This record gives sequence, structure tokens and C-alpha cells, in this order.
Amino acid sequence: MSNEQRIGARVLRRKPIDQLTHPGSELKRTMGVGHLTMISIGATLGTGIFVVLGQAVPKAGPGIVVSFVLAGITALFSALSYAELAGLIPASGSSYSYTYATLGEIVAWVCGWCLVLEYGVSVAAVAVGWGQYINELLHLVTGLRIPDVLSQPPSAGGIINIPAVLVVALSMLVLLGGSKGSARTNTILVWIKVGSLLMFCAVAFTAFKAGNLQPLFPLGLAGMSAGAATLFFSYIGFDAASTAGEEAKNPQRDLPRAIILSLVIITALYCAVALAAVGAMPWQSFEGSEAALSRVLTENVSGAIWPILLSIGAVVATASVVLTVLYGQTRILYAMSRDGLVPSIFARLSRNGVPVVNTLVVGSFIAVLAAFVSLGSLADVTSIGTLFAFGLVNIAVIILRRTEPDRQRSFRVPFSPVTPLVGLAFCVYMMFSLGLPSWIAFIVWMVIGFVIYFGYSVRKARLAVPSDQ
Ligand code: ALA
Repeated sequence: MSNEQRIGARVLRRKPIDQLTHPGSELKRTMGVGHLTMISIGATLGTGIFVVLGQAVPKAGPGIVVSFVLAGITALFSALSYAELAGLIPASGSSYSYTYATLGEIVAWVCGWCLVLEYGVSVAAVAVGWGQYINELLHLVTGLRIPDVLSQPPSAGGIINIPAVLVVALSMLVLLGGSKGSARTNTILVWIKVGSLLMFCAVAFTAFKAGNLQPLFPLGLAGMSAGAATLFFSYIGFDAASTAGEEAKNPQRDLPRAIILSLVIITALYCAVALAAVGAMPWQSFEGSEAALSRVLTENVSGAIWPILLSIGAVVATASVVLTVLYGQTRILYAMSRDGLVPSIFARLSRNGVPVVNTLVVGSFIAVLAAFVSLGSLADVTSIGTLFAFGLVNIAVIILRRTEPDRQRSFRVPFSPVTPLVGLAFCVYMMFSLGLPSWIAFIVWMVIGFVIYFGYSVRKARLAVPSDQ
């Protein structure tokens, strides 16, 4: 066998599904469908609806509700594929594990590397959003603000973003306490944020004016699509339950249910919030607003208590995104480390089943990003990486139907391969709706990933090369 053939065999080796689902996991199985749904909602509802909505409305106009539906449909098609694979391959590691079984190691690496964008890098952005709402809350209650030098990154005239670092550090401590504790904490946080968004709808609808919805698409369909691409960020995280495959009591049955249930709840809530917001405040007034939902209440509804309650909800909401997405990131690296693609330290567990060093390393890395990087500059890059990973998941469904037709599936994507192909097309369309700077950053990220893969992972991977067997 020539050297090229050996390298080809290495990068294309696939992990048998049985090895993925029975890897001798030491993680504890404690979660039911309720916990798993809460993980997905916890990872999803956050900075997108509370902060990014304010950036998307000026692009789309009152038709932002339709943008939410378009972004939600893109997520839904991929969610169906996630649901099938999560029921088939309930391993920690989400789409990374699915592609390792179907498309080979190098694609799995690309996928895992995209997941680091989706999870690790987005957490930093979300933590920055948390800091903005803490400042808003402080301002509403006391009239004071944390000075920019201590609450903004250098690109926005500050030195270090202390509130963003604080929320990452607190989430890290909760995770170090063990996943059951984190799941319980997360469930409480999710109820608070869903409650605060429902309260927003109830209060904002009292100021609803049908005239604010005319014309529905002042910037045309292109504006509506651009709004949808920006809003895609707000759907990122619905797949987080799939990172907990090895901690679920009945993953085959519960993971598909949790993923679809969480997405339906989230889409309905987003559309209601968006309709309430653009119905209460003219779309042009959203320009330049950081805490958009708070502004809708402050300027259009009487009663100072409402924006305060909403901002408390926003602070809680974004904190729970940080918590659950950080959790997901540690589990993805755990899976990659167990396969030898990243150093073994990431798979080392403490006596109560927590990957302590992994959590500390990931938490510290994210805290540094959150301290010095602005929210806006990372959100679109996160979306591109996520869409790419979603596209691969859709392809994996089609391939697995051919290579493993008889394997039991607790959930089947209807009308495959048409549905996964439409899901793939939506992902590609959304990727091309994002701007050139995001593409450049994404390509740079991928080049770094390939350097690590060929410099380290390809030699250290544990999976046998077919020719060596
Ligand atoms: N979907 C997550 C949020 O909106 C990233 O905060």
C-alpha cells in the first residue's frame, strides 16, 4: 500500500455504530425526556431573542415574524435529521459522532471543529450579551451603569468585559458540581425565561397597533431573508440534547422527542414575541437598540416594573444558555478525546463522573474570549459553522439509510432522501445569506482545524486503520 493510500485509509476510516453506542461510558444515566427538552430549550432561548432580534428587525421590517418562520423551518429540517441520528447513535458528541460513523474521520473532525464554533465560541458571545443586560438592569433600577472600561471589549472602547467573565466562571462552577445538579438548575432557569417572554407578549400586546405591521416587507424579500440569516443564531442550540446521549435514561426514545418538542416550543414562542414587539413599536425604532425587548416596554407601555422584570428574565435566559452550551462543549470534546483526536486529558473523569479538567480548560478558554471579543463579531461566524455541521448531518441521514438499512430507528425522517436534501438546501441558502467577512473567518477557522488534524489527530486517533486490521 502506498503512502497516499495509507493516508487515504486513515482519514476515511469510519467508526462502527456499535462502538459509538457501547463505548464503556462512565457518564451517569440520569436524564428523562423532560430534562433533555430543557437542555435544548436552555441552550437555545437567549441572546438571539433578547438582543439579536433588535439587529434583525431593521433588516426585515415587521415581516420579521416570517423571517423567524424561515429560520425555524431551516432548523426544523435539520432537527428531523438530528432526531433520526440521535435515536440511532445516542452517543455523547452529537453530529461529530454521527459523521464518524457515516462519512469518515476527516469529515467527523470537520464537524467536531464546527461544533467548537457552535458551542465554544458562541458561549463567549452569549456571555457578552448577558453583560449587556446586567448593565441594562442596573441602569433601570439604580440609574447607574458599569463603566465601559470594565464592561466592554477593546474593540468597543473598553479594556475587559468583567460581567461576561463572571457568568462563564459561575456556569463552570455549576457544571463542576455534576450534570444532574446542572440539569436541575437549568430547568429552573428555563421556566424563568419562558415566563418572562410570555409576560413580555402579554404586556406588549396591550400596545399593539395593526398600523405598525404595514407594509409587512418594506425592504422586500431580500430583507426578509437577510433577517432570517441573522436570526438563525437564535435557533442554535436546539440540538444540545443530543450531546447528552450517554446521560439519558432512554436515549433512543427520548432524544428524538426532546429535539423536536423543544424546537416546536421555541419557534412558537419566537413568533409570538416578534409579533408582539413589532406590533407595539414601529420597526424603524429598533435601529441601534441593544436591549431591544426592554426598549419596546420602556417606550410603549406604562409601568416601570415591566422592563425590570423582563431584564431579570433576560439575565437568567442568557445565563442558562451559557450553562447548557458550555456543558455541550465539554461533552463534544469528551467524545473526541475518547477517540484520540484531542488529548486524553479531556476524557478524564472525576469520581462523581464529571470531566473536571475538560470543564476547567474549556471554561477558561471561553472566559478569555468573552473578556476581549464583541458579541456581533462572533455571532455570524458561529452561524456559518453551525449551518455547515447541520448540512453534514442531513447528508449523514441519507448515507446511513443506505449503509445501515436494517438497523433499528426509533424515529425516521419522513420522505427521505427528499426531506434531508431540502434540509441541506436550506442550510446552504442560509450560509450564502451571510456576509463575506463571516466566510473569511470560517475559512481561516477551517484551515487551523486541518493543521491540527494532520499535525496531531490523524496519528493519535484510536480507531484502527482498515489496512492494519
Ligand atoms: N440560540 C442561542 C441564543 O440565542 C445561541 O442565545
